[in-house]
Amino acid sequence: MGYQLVQIVTLLTVIAFGALRKVRGECSSDDLEGLMAFKNGIQMDTSGRLAKWVGRNCCEWEGVVCDNATTRVTQILLPGLNEKDFVQTQMVGQLSPSMTLLTSLEILDLGGLVGLSGAIPLTIGLQMPKLQKLYLYGNNLTGPVPESIGGFPNLQELALHENRISGSIPSSLGSLRKLKRLLLYSNQISGTIPFSLGSLTNLVELDVHDNALMGHIPNNIGQMLSLEKLDLSSNMLSGSIPSSITNLTAISVLYFDTNYLEGTIPFPSRPGEMPSLNFLRLHNNHLSGNIPPSFGYLVSLQRVSLSNNKLEGALPSNLGNLHSLTELYLSDNSFSGQIPKSIGQLSQLIMLNISNNLIQWPLPQEMSSLQNLQTLDLSFNPLSLSSIPPWLTSMSSLSRLYLAACGIKGQIPDSLQTTQSPIQELDLSGNLLSGPIPSWLGSFSQLYLLNLSSNSLELHIPDSLTNLPDLAVLDLHSNKLTGSITGVFNTAQQGTSGGSLTYIDLSDNNFSSGVEAIGVGEQLNIQHLNLSHNLLKGTLPGSLGRLNSIHSLDLSFNELASNLPEVLAKLTLLESLKLQSNHFSGNIPNGFLKLRKLKELDLSDNVLEGEIPKGKPLIDFPGSTYSRNKGLCGKPLSPCKV
Ligand SMILES: *[C@@H]1O[C@H](CO)[C@@H](O)[C@H](O)[C@H]1NC(C)=O
Ligand SMILES: *[C@@H]1O[C@H](CO)[C@@H](O)[C@H](O)[C@H]1NC(C)=O
Ligand SMILES: *[C@@H]1O[C@H](CO)[C@@H](O)[C@H](O)[C@H]1NC(C)=O
Ligand SMILES: *[C@@H]1O[C@H](CO)[C@@H](O)[C@H](O)[C@H]1NC(C)=O
Ligand SMILES: *[C@@H]1O[C@H](CO)[C@@H](O)[C@H](O)[C@H]1NC(C)=O
Ligand SMILES: *[C@@H]1O[C@H](CO)[C@@H](O)[C@H](O)[C@H]1NC(C)=O
Ligand SMILES: *[C@@H]1O[C@H](CO)[C@@H](O)[C@H](O)[C@H]1NC(C)=O
Repeated sequence: MGYQLVQIVTLLTVIAFGALRKVRGECSSDDLEGLMAFKNGIQMDTSGRLAKWVGRNCCEWEGVVCDNATTRVTQILLPGLNEKDFVQTQMVGQLSPSMTLLTSLEILDLGGLVGLSGAIPLTIGLQMPKLQKLYLYGNNLTGPVPESIGGFPNLQELALHENRISGSIPSSLGSLRKLKRLLLYSNQISGTIPFSLGSLTNLVELDVHDNALMGHIPNNIGQMLSLEKLDLSSNMLSGSIPSSITNLTAISVLYFDTNYLEGTIPFPSRPGEMPSLNFLRLHNNHLSGNIPPSFGYLVSLQRVSLSNNKLEGALPSNLGNLHSLTELYLSDNSFSGQIPKSIGQLSQLIMLNISNNLIQWPLPQEMSSLQNLQTLDLSFNPLSLSSIPPWLTSMSSLSRLYLAACGIKGQIPDSLQTTQSPIQELDLSGNLLSGPIPSWLGSFSQLYLLNLSSNSLELHIPDSLTNLPDLAVLDLHSNKLTGSITGVFNTAQQGTSGGSLTYIDLSDNNFSSGVEAIGVGEQLNIQHLNLSHNLLKGTLPGSLGRLNSIHSLDLSFNELASNLPEVLAKLTLLESLKLQSNHFSGNIPNGFLKLRKLKELDLSDNVLEGEIPKGKPLIDFPGSTYSRNKGLCGKPLSPCKV
């Protein structure tokens, strides 16, 4: 009996004491001191959480987690973004070195608070042996990654990205054998990638992009056998890609783009290597040689970008094995030969950009089976296409077709008229097209961009074209077009809030009339208007002042004759204004002083006279801006005679 009672009493005591401890939530004095040191380092906390950190019951404080058994603080969770309600909070302040008194801490999450500044405490790695996750990303931290960070024997995740951290990557990081994620991207880190990182065999993610790292990629990078994501892009790395990379069996994301890497692509050296590689970016480097013949065995590839290198030779014939490929960027290299027939097997392909290479005729008809292809750019290849292959215009998903400088001859082909493709962007610039712009182009109801520049197209701009509801970019420069430009500005649309055109280039043609229509109709969202090098006569209308989105206006090399309209002063977003080589007369209106954003101005070769209005930005342009007029004077020219 007595024994049972004792047992029950003991049990109750344990429960009561446990409950009491829970309620009291009192933590060790070291932890309390560490937390108060942290709190005192923060000058502002928009969440108001720290203000409620009072008393000794720190295990009860918001953002603090204790171990139930030891009552030691194990986690500080104060991320800037609350994942539950997406509320963003900020803290401004510095990290106190005395935070290291929190010797049982396992997780420190102060990520995304924006305003933490100053350096990371230099001794941080020495006193917190249990730390597993350190998140200080998305702040304003400066100074180096402390060498002491190698002292965290249990560290699994180190996230210091998006700060202003400088210095080099400490080689001590190589001793963090349990490290899984190392995120240092978007900082100002320089120096080389330490060789010691090769020892991090548990590392799953290494992301140091957008820093100032130099030197070679260490040869032993292939030892990090757990790596799934490796991002070294946007640094200043040089030398070649180590061949050990073929040992990374788990790699899925490999980004080396925008560096100074040279030599050849060393992978895969044989079939079966890097079986999980999904995303590969090597663009903007100095890589040379061919695409390796076994490239087609990287069967998991989804997105590949090799643009802007010095790659050459034929595209591998087994390209068609890449059944998961959705995007392929090969532009700005020296690839030659023909596009392999096997390309037709890339049934998931959405984007193919081979512009600016040495690819030759003929295009394989097998391409017509790419039923998911939305963007095709074959521009600037010596393709000598002569005409657009009819199968090309029957591709059911094609919405962006770029065939600039592909040697297309004759009239704009009728095969386009009956296309089933939902064309939004069509670029046939720099070809040998002649004859008129067909009015049936106006039936491309989704057209957003039309670039027919640098051809020999004749006659007028069809009205059907300029009435297209979504047409934003119209580039017809350097053709032999004649007649009036009225249609471009007078849209017949009803009920639209301003026209859709934002970019109009009709320069270098033989248009002779229609300037009086500028700004009259609904096309008021124009940002870029170039009518230079035509035969335009007449006077500029007051409605020009309605184009209040315009950044760049070029009317140079025409026969315009009038005073410079005062309404030009309303176009306050203007950065470039070119009116040279016309017959503009009278004074420069004082209102021009309101064009504060103007960076480029040319009024030369007109018949302007009088004093140049005194003030910025007009007096800061060189004399040549005003030269060869009837009688302009004042700064920057010589003073006016009284
Ligand atoms: C500590 O106790 C709380 C409240 O009883 C409980 O929710 C939590 O899971 C416990 N934590 C651990 C690590 O046992
Ligand atoms: C970052 O720190 C600099 C000076 O150290 C300060 O000028 C800047 O406002 C800070 N930025 C933020 C977002 O707190
Ligand atoms: C890949 O790993 C194997 C086995 O560890 C090793 O023998 C080989 O040298 C490594 N390859 C490269 C290119 O480093
Ligand atoms: C193709 O790539 C070139 C060079 O990178 C780029 O300028 C062009 O816009 C791309 N084409 C398309 C249609 O996106
Ligand atoms: C039209 O194509 C030419 C190249 O052929 C290019 O220089 C120009 O920028 C393009 N226009 C637009 C608006 O993209
Ligand atoms: C364009 O105008 C110039 C100058 O008047 C003329 O010599 C040329 O023949 C014209 N070209 C066309 C295609 O009309
Ligand atoms: C306007 O077009 C002409 C001829 O095509 C060109 O030389 C000039 O640079 C263009 N102006 C602007 C501002 O782009």
